[in-house]
Amino acid sequence: MARHEGQVVFVRHALPGERVVARITERAKGFLRADAVEILLPSPDRVIPPCPFAGPGACGGCDWQHADWPAQRRLKAQVLREQLTRLGGIEDFTGIDGFADLSELVEALPGGPLSWRTRVQYTAGPDGRAGFHRHRSADIVPVDRCRIAHPAIQSLPVLDRHWPPGSAVEAVASSTGDTAVVARASRTGRPTGAVPQVRESVAGREWSLDATGFWQVHPHAVAAFTGAVLQMLRPAAGERAWDLYGGAGVFAAALAPHCGPVTVVEADARAVSAGRRALRDLRNVAFTRADVAQALANPRWRAVDLVVLDPPRSGAGRPVVEAIAARSPRAVAYVACDPAAFGRDVRTFGELGYALTAVRAFDSFPMTQHFETIGLLSPANP
Ligand SMILES: C[S@@+](CC[C@H](N)C(=O)[O-])C[C@H]1O[C@@H](n2cnc3c(N)ncnc32)[C@H](O)[C@@H]1O
Repeated sequence: MARHEGQVVFVRHALPGERVVARITERAKGFLRADAVEILLPSPDRVIPPCPFAGPGACGGCDWQHADWPAQRRLKAQVLREQLTRLGGIEDFTGIDGFADLSELVEALPGGPLSWRTRVQYTAGPDGRAGFHRHRSADIVPVDRCRIAHPAIQSLPVLDRHWPPGSAVEAVASSTGDTAVVARASRTGRPTGAVPQVRESVAGREWSLDATGFWQVHPHAVAAFTGAVLQMLRPAAGERAWDLYGGAGVFAAALAPHCGPVTVVEADARAVSAGRRALRDLRNVAFTRADVAQALANPRWRAVDLVVLDPPRSGAGRPVVEAIAARSPRAVAYVACDPAAFGRDVRTFGELGYALTAVRAFDSFPMTQHFETIGLLSPANP
């Protein structure tokens, strides 16, 4: 973020501390957007992007190909801290485990910053070639391959063939080696053929899911996130747990050997049936297909000891946070893919007597501005 004659300018392709020539790309109410088109004084963190399609006016997929990987993680840690202050209302981080050294806060996952993405969505341009959207544009940039895509995705027959213009093409490579390509006439259209199942495997357990169903896109994400959640919650025998926005139950599967009963709440019917199949041997796990807010509005949902909360990018929101706090859990592990939504919900938890006591964050989306945060919320006055 820079300022020009007092006006805020968000400059893509620049790094903090750099002096650049920026070209304005958009004039919005109260701020400008711009691209750094010439770097006059480079940051020591600047590198040559490994992808030739990264840069001003090109593929809009990766934000930070021009920063070295440790610097990307430091920037993410700064963003997290800023959002927790700005939206979470936290000024003093001394009591929150994880913030002692910002350069260590966002943990790298194994495998490096390239070749990790196991789900990729392409769009076909007017010439029928698949590619990616230019940043904030309907234009499609055709690519020879995507450098952050998993090698199994890169070898799928997507980029070497022609698609009806405007098609949305999803490529999937699972942890067991299954692959799938699912095409739609448009991003919101129905799949043009049957959606295949892919098998995913974590800690010796296998899930069979729709190829288009939700699954973490980094191959090491589920193991890292479930490990962090167990470390934070420290589940004990007999403790009752909820896995809210539970998908196919990856957190329930990790909790069930240590505590229970565990109840998964998930709105998507296909995720629920995949979870029921995969966890059928775990007698202390039950799935409820429901909207989380509606389920928790029911007084039948009484006290709970442990909660895993893994909402979509928009966050859980006040009614859900209030409904959780009203059940007085001993601990809540909040799994967040958007630090701003996380900050807002942390503020609400704070108003209801729950303090953020520990944070771990993972660079599960290298080369992009995205990352995952896992926060432990505990009663401020137990
Ligand atoms: C970030 S994903 C997490 C899934 C799962 N915890 C995992 O890690 O695989 C969020 C999940 O919430 C579900 N979801 C979204 N809105 C919901 C709602 N209002 N009520 C219940 N589930 C919802 C989505 O279908 C998706 O499975």
